[in-house]
Amino acid sequence: MPATVDPGTFLGHRLDIRDLDLDTAFRERPLDSDTLRCLQYMHDIENHTVCYLRDTLVTPAHEDPRLTTFLTMWNYEEHWHGEALAAVLEAHDRPAGRTRVAQVRRQLGRRQRFRPAAFLFGSMIVPDMVAVHMTWGAVNELTTQAGYAQLARKADHPVLSDLLHRIMRQEGRHVDFYTSEARTRLARSKPTRRVTRLALRRFWRPVGHGVRPESEVGFLINHLFGDAAGRHAAARIDRHVDRLPGMSGLRLVSSALERYGAAPAAAR
Ligand SMILES: [Fe+2]
Ligand SMILES: [Fe+2]
Repeated sequence: MPATVDPGTFLGHRLDIRDLDLDTAFRERPLDSDTLRCLQYMHDIENHTVCYLRDTLVTPAHEDPRLTTFLTMWNYEEHWHGEALAAVLEAHDRPAGRTRVAQVRRQLGRRQRFRPAAFLFGSMIVPDMVAVHMTWGAVNELTTQAGYAQLARKADHPVLSDLLHRIMRQEGRHVDFYTSEARTRLARSKPTRRVTRLALRRFWRPVGHGVRPESEVGFLINHLFGDAAGRHAAARIDRHVDRLPGMSGLRLVSSALERYGAAPAAAR
């Protein structure tokens, strides 16, 4: 794992899927309803990235041009992930694209609207809010990448797998940046490690929690991580987080599986 990732070398790329004939591939072999339900969730959340960016930029992260360079590229890449997933959903006559995104944003509760104020307030009382953010981001990118891997495995559709593996390669670079940034910042100070650990332990929930209904979060977690391979993937993420300074033993993803009722691997 690299010690640091230079955002100056991190050029955002539009995910290119123009060589994939989605209409033919999915007409000949449509995806099952569980896979489409997961893709709907992922589409909605990829398209919510710009709102997560809004929350990040009210913190001191906006003062650091290294971070804003990365965040600009990151948001661009996540936008195209949303567009790619929209194309898959549209091939199945499922809601996707701007109309769907507008609907999801309209349905958000008041808590979501106050998030920028909460982040602003948090950054006034937390010594290194950016460290919390980068660590949180590392966990979210790891779980997102693993979620795509599990979906590709479970759906077992060659064209969907190809598309998801292209997304996963970009998610891997997001993981590298957030992880290296988190490691550097956590290593600097004990109070930062303590606050970050507390924040993750108390407040971390799977990506999309608060944006999609609890029933959808639970479905996604159980479908993607509820079997033996999924549980192994969850444990691997927890071990990755363990290696960040002061973060060992948090078991964030394994605990989320238990919270959402995912059965033990042996029982499935
Ligand atoms: Fe993404
Ligand atoms: Fe990502």
